[in-house]
Amino acid sequence: MPKVKEAWGSRIGLILAMAGNAVGLGNFLRFPVQAIRNGGGAFIIPYLVSFLLMGLPLLWIEWSMGRYGGVKGNHSTPFIFGSMSKKRLWKYVGVFGIFTNLGIISYYTYIESWTLSYTFKSIAQSFSGLSRHQVSAAFDTYAGVHSPAAGHLVAVNFPVWAIVAFLITLTINIYILSKGLSGGVEKVAKIAMPLLLLFGVFLAIRAITLGATGVAGCATCNSHLGLDFLWKPKFNNLANPKVWLAAAGQIFFTLSVGMGTIHCYAAYVKKNEDIALNAMTAGWMNEFVEIVLGAAIVIPIAVGYMGIDWVKENASFMMAFKTMPFLFSQWGPILATLSGIAWFGLLFFAGITSSLAMGTPFMAFVEDEFGWGRKKSAVILGLIILILALPTIFFFEIGVFNEYDYWTGTVSLVIFATAEVILFSWIFGMDKGWKEITRGSDIRVPTIYKFIIKWITPVFILVIFISAMIKPLHGELVDWQLAFNQLLTHGTWPWASDSIISQVFHLNEKIIWFKQGAATPMFYKDMSRLLLLSTFLGLSFMVHLASKKRKLTAKSHIS
Ligand code: PHE
Repeated sequence: MPKVKEAWGSRIGLILAMAGNAVGLGNFLRFPVQAIRNGGGAFIIPYLVSFLLMGLPLLWIEWSMGRYGGVKGNHSTPFIFGSMSKKRLWKYVGVFGIFTNLGIISYYTYIESWTLSYTFKSIAQSFSGLSRHQVSAAFDTYAGVHSPAAGHLVAVNFPVWAIVAFLITLTINIYILSKGLSGGVEKVAKIAMPLLLLFGVFLAIRAITLGATGVAGCATCNSHLGLDFLWKPKFNNLANPKVWLAAAGQIFFTLSVGMGTIHCYAAYVKKNEDIALNAMTAGWMNEFVEIVLGAAIVIPIAVGYMGIDWVKENASFMMAFKTMPFLFSQWGPILATLSGIAWFGLLFFAGITSSLAMGTPFMAFVEDEFGWGRKKSAVILGLIILILALPTIFFFEIGVFNEYDYWTGTVSLVIFATAEVILFSWIFGMDKGWKEITRGSDIRVPTIYKFIIKWITPVFILVIFISAMIKPLHGELVDWQLAFNQLLTHGTWPWASDSIISQVFHLNEKIIWFKQGAATPMFYKDMSRLLLLSTFLGLSFMVHLASKKRKLTAKSHIS
């Protein structure tokens, strides 16, 4: 059976690929919006605490799990977990490590394709002379967003150019993946990461030096107010569970922990290669890009022209496409073009190094278990992504996109992280685990982390998981208190509509699939859930087949 031999070419290549995995759209689009919505400087402290108590430990855990499994020839989480515990259950928990990546990559590649198109639109100066509303409307036209036709509750979007750009982006990803780790992913990371930093620093300097723009009638149109709001730590909101949930969620997403992606990349390092320092370097690089560059671009520039109150109310990741090109055009044609290229080029590079990472777990799984070659694995991966992505494109505005983000980019990673930390610290065992983290290490990991990983991290993640499951309406501290009161007095609980339990059972909404003969948005959302569930089950079945196959080969070796 042909076995694909993968390995990283160099240490710097590995670190850049890992940093590229972490640094993504999340750093530039998700972080600033989360920070603004959760009180700016009040968000930063829970965010950093989550990094130190959960993010960093998970990085070490995942790197060492990956290396441990990889040495035994297992490069996908089902079988990496399988090599750490004999119980069959763990293999199936490991399915999350492939599933999450497939789910996220499907909507992520679509956004990545917008950044590619918008880079070319910037080169072509397509936004010059347009008003803010025209720039915003141009995006709706691009994504095919329009009102439903008569007799329908839902509009099907069929944006031809956006679909073409998506197919091109997908093909680029699949092509690079088919070249393998050192021949494809690593080469891209070595070019994309430095360019991304260069573009980011250019834009951040622009934003920081913008200051007061003198927009008539807008006293708060000053980029420094945006920076102040995000960077100045505030201690007033520390007891707010909502802020903690958002901060922990951002740490998960931005570091790509709880996804299975890091395990897979780390499975290709050598037996005694350093883990402790590599993991830290990639992790801190991500934090630099997020806190320094991610905070210093969209928000300050937007505050510079729209004022702080507008930004606080309207901050969303769509601003990157609907507002930024208009704001750049305030700088005159040359700078506007350069900034547009820098901004969308940066997003594209950040995106592609992440989507390549998300593609790898599936590739590793089928190469290891079914002996497929790189090309075949990559092409089949491309087809799966296409099938999963089309619903998010066609039903973009009714929230199929958000549905994917909720289940795969928010829920499934917390489940996976809870499981893996228990597996590592308690089943595999902390003594063995600590040896794995420190073996071959170029730094001394502070011993306190042995305690943190065994006790604090699992409790931290469990609390996050349970809170996300039962979150009450509004989710502020008082709401939790009120909810417990209500539970004691009336025996009921006021579910927040984004709590996991309420989402699973549609608690806050009536289940209506058809109305006057037309399908409702809920119908489409539920169908997309079904599609995700089938993907999970399909992968589980493949793991079942692979296990059977392994047993047969083991038997034939013995006889
Ligand atoms: N960490 C990436 C970001 O910040 C997203 C990502 C998710 C990457 C899952 C790999 C796996 O955008």
